[in-house]
Amino acid sequence: MIAQKRVFSGIQPSGRLHVGNYVGAMRKMISLQDEYYCIYGIVDYHAMTVRFDPKEMEESIFDCAVDYMAAGIDPTKSVLMVQSTVSQHTELAWILNTITPISWLLRVPTFKEKRQQNPDYVNMGLLDYPVLMASDIIVYKAEVVPVGDDQLPHLELTREIVRRFNSLFGYTFPEPKAMLGEVTRILGLDGNFKMSKSLDNCIYLDESKDEIWKKLSTAVTDVRRKRKTDPGNPEDCNIFTMHKAFSKKGDIDYCAHECCVAGIGCLDCKKILLENMYKELEPIQKKRHELSCNREHVYDILKQGQKRAEEIAVETMSDVHAKIGVKSFH
Ligand code: TRP
Repeated sequence: MIAQKRVFSGIQPSGRLHVGNYVGAMRKMISLQDEYYCIYGIVDYHAMTVRFDPKEMEESIFDCAVDYMAAGIDPTKSVLMVQSTVSQHTELAWILNTITPISWLLRVPTFKEKRQQNPDYVNMGLLDYPVLMASDIIVYKAEVVPVGDDQLPHLELTREIVRRFNSLFGYTFPEPKAMLGEVTRILGLDGNFKMSKSLDNCIYLDESKDEIWKKLSTAVTDVRRKRKTDPGNPEDCNIFTMHKAFSKKGDIDYCAHECCVAGIGCLDCKKILLENMYKELEPIQKKRHELSCNREHVYDILKQGQKRAEEIAVETMSDVHAKIGVKSFH
């Protein structure tokens, strides 16, 4: 068998998932499983760069594992692991730290944002976040990284670090490429900002149909369409973007056409979206419930993931140690 290319992506264990997360990166992560050797990490050390409650960490990691398995990460195809259980991630991050100029990290947009949002919690980990992320990826010599477009600057930095490592110490790592999902950005219910927990504009994956309808029915559409009798502009409507993410071509074309000729109103269009969206969420919710009731099974999968990930990471580190001239004595 030809060696499969490796894929890595990291998932922050930071609470409930929303449909923006789902269509942004998750779907891509799921679809890559058949073609690549995928390693998906629950990145708990990254979650420590902002204020967190240690009492909630264990549960957040568990929930995150359950969410991803329910959505379609299949442990018989992919490796699902927890970052902190494979110490080579942080070990390699240290080595990468020594070749990464601080000026590169100060330029990273998420660092600048977080620093502004939380001026009294600007820790080294926050600045160093992209270096640990680079390490997550290259400790497996991964070549493909499915992410949302907000992660592109981080990926660019990973590639710069890889180029520098390779030129200083000899070719060791391939340059990983980002792979974006098909619908890259769903805006929040406000139709204005990215869907984000902190903005309270999300539809969560675990919400009931009624809850979702409550949110959809008041969600912002094309702001120029004031009345049902006004023709609308689907391309300027966030609900239409959601249709593109959840509906089949027939419904998408129907809604676009009827909106343009003022044939149906926004509520009708939203009802069709609700049906299509919930059709996809319902089985995920069912699976999620089943897995939550079977903790041992979930922990077994994470343990197995740790073992499989470690095997690759150990091999990479022995290559790295040889390249930088650090010898092991056994
Ligand atoms: N920074 C990513 C996010 O917030 C999470 C992440 C950590 C990641 N390490 C990674 C993503 C490695 C891709 C590859 O979503």
